[in-house]
Amino acid sequence: MAYTKKDLQDTVKEMLGDRLLVIVSNREPYLHSIREGKICCSRPTGGAVTALDPVMRACGGVWVAYGSGKADKQAVDNNNHVKVPPDDPSYTLRRVWLSKEEEAGYYYGFSNKGLWPLCHIAYTRPEFNENEWRDYYNVNKKFVDAVLEEIGQRKAFVWVQDYHLMLVPQMLKKKRPDLIVSHFWHIPWPNSEVFRICPKQKKLVEGLLSNDLLGFHIRYHCENFFDTVEKTLEARIDRERYSIIHNGHETLVRAFPISVDFNAIEKKSNTPNMKKLVSPLIEEYNLHGIDYVMFGLDRIDYTKGIIERIRALDRFLEKYPKYKGKIAFIQIGDLSRIHLQVYKDLNDEINAVVEEVNWKHSTETWAPIIMVRRHLLFDEILAFYKLADICVVSSLHDGMNIVAKEYISARTDGDGVLLLSQFTGAARELSDAIYFNPFDIEEFAEKIRQAIEMPAKERKQRMTALREVVSEKNIYKWAGNIISEFGKIHSCSAAKRT
Ligand code: F6P
Repeated sequence: MAYTKKDLQDTVKEMLGDRLLVIVSNREPYLHSIREGKICCSRPTGGAVTALDPVMRACGGVWVAYGSGKADKQAVDNNNHVKVPPDDPSYTLRRVWLSKEEEAGYYYGFSNKGLWPLCHIAYTRPEFNENEWRDYYNVNKKFVDAVLEEIGQRKAFVWVQDYHLMLVPQMLKKKRPDLIVSHFWHIPWPNSEVFRICPKQKKLVEGLLSNDLLGFHIRYHCENFFDTVEKTLEARIDRERYSIIHNGHETLVRAFPISVDFNAIEKKSNTPNMKKLVSPLIEEYNLHGIDYVMFGLDRIDYTKGIIERIRALDRFLEKYPKYKGKIAFIQIGDLSRIHLQVYKDLNDEINAVVEEVNWKHSTETWAPIIMVRRHLLFDEILAFYKLADICVVSSLHDGMNIVAKEYISARTDGDGVLLLSQFTGAARELSDAIYFNPFDIEEFAEKIRQAIEMPAKERKQRMTALREVVSEKNIYKWAGNIISEFGKIHSCSAAKRT
């Protein structure tokens, strides 16, 4: 029997008892904006928030995050609180406000010009500068103040997310050593040779070593972290127990591959309403006569291999022109981090390559690539998953990749092929996907052919196996495993005190 939401609720009750659960992340799970003169609430893209929202819905608690929506200030009460989700309020979102300058230095600067390319090794040069570091430090402190205010005198488990808040655990523990603090790292941890170019590596690693529990998606990232610690500072590393002792404090390091709410996605994509959403897409994108729909959904980011995907399709059509007019590749791309030049350039490059490839292969009535630029509601995304014969995830490097698991969860017909980059965390679990190296355009084009020509029986066998994996290793199980580890730490520290 798969682990359920109810199982997670029981684990939380047993392990956390009366402790408050506090999540801290840069990105907020819901943002408010003004549309047609009215305040409306939407969900940002990004794997971390997508995965964590069902957990908070199940467990309740407080989520502290940067209020980045244009109407966020109008939506909160005097304590900067808003209950979310709007249709079924189950937890409290506490918003932290940042000035434009802080956002520029901490988010665009140190986090996304520095740490993001550093950890992804997608050959975009990381940049670090002292002013942005100062902003990063000060904003981390701002988050800490908000967390402490929320906790007050209570006992709590604080669950910090991602690379934006690496200093938070240490700052929290200094003020409240009784808190149990855990960090989940949503992106890859690179090898130590790469991480050592970061001028602030020692401070950042020390920050993480104040955690009681530190989670990565896969073991390989844990191993890379051990190597980094070994080369950066004095610490006792126990690779058998997956533990590091630094300055007398123990941090347990574990792999917890993140997932999705399989049951909820399955249920939603099986509703009669879904059929009503799929048919208009065929009209809107003129898919009559198309035999194969290939689909990609990403933030426009240079780690996602979007250019490589288009180049591979180009090569595929060069090699197999009989598929012209028979295949459509729909790419959904939400703009991201657009104030950084490298993202602007990528966006321009994608437009240029799409234009070039469409022009090269198009007929009077058909062009291979359809770019969808608008932000989609989750129901619309599910409709695309249902429509897609092939879902392509071609990241050059990715911590996990949630899209791969969402696609599998939505394929209640047990059909569809997942083309998956071997450089995603998901590739470690989803062994019935078709793997490829996105840097190898020739191989990638051949894998598109393999996906298209795969016999129906094999497609179904593979999808059935993939669905078993995601159903079993769902998001509740992921959170339950982490919270059970929290619980063990708590009972150890209680035992030490008695
Ligand atoms: O998959 C999780 C993640 O990649 C985070 O690491 C990142 O913060 C987020 O998705 C998307 O980026 P942003 O928050 O900058 O929009």
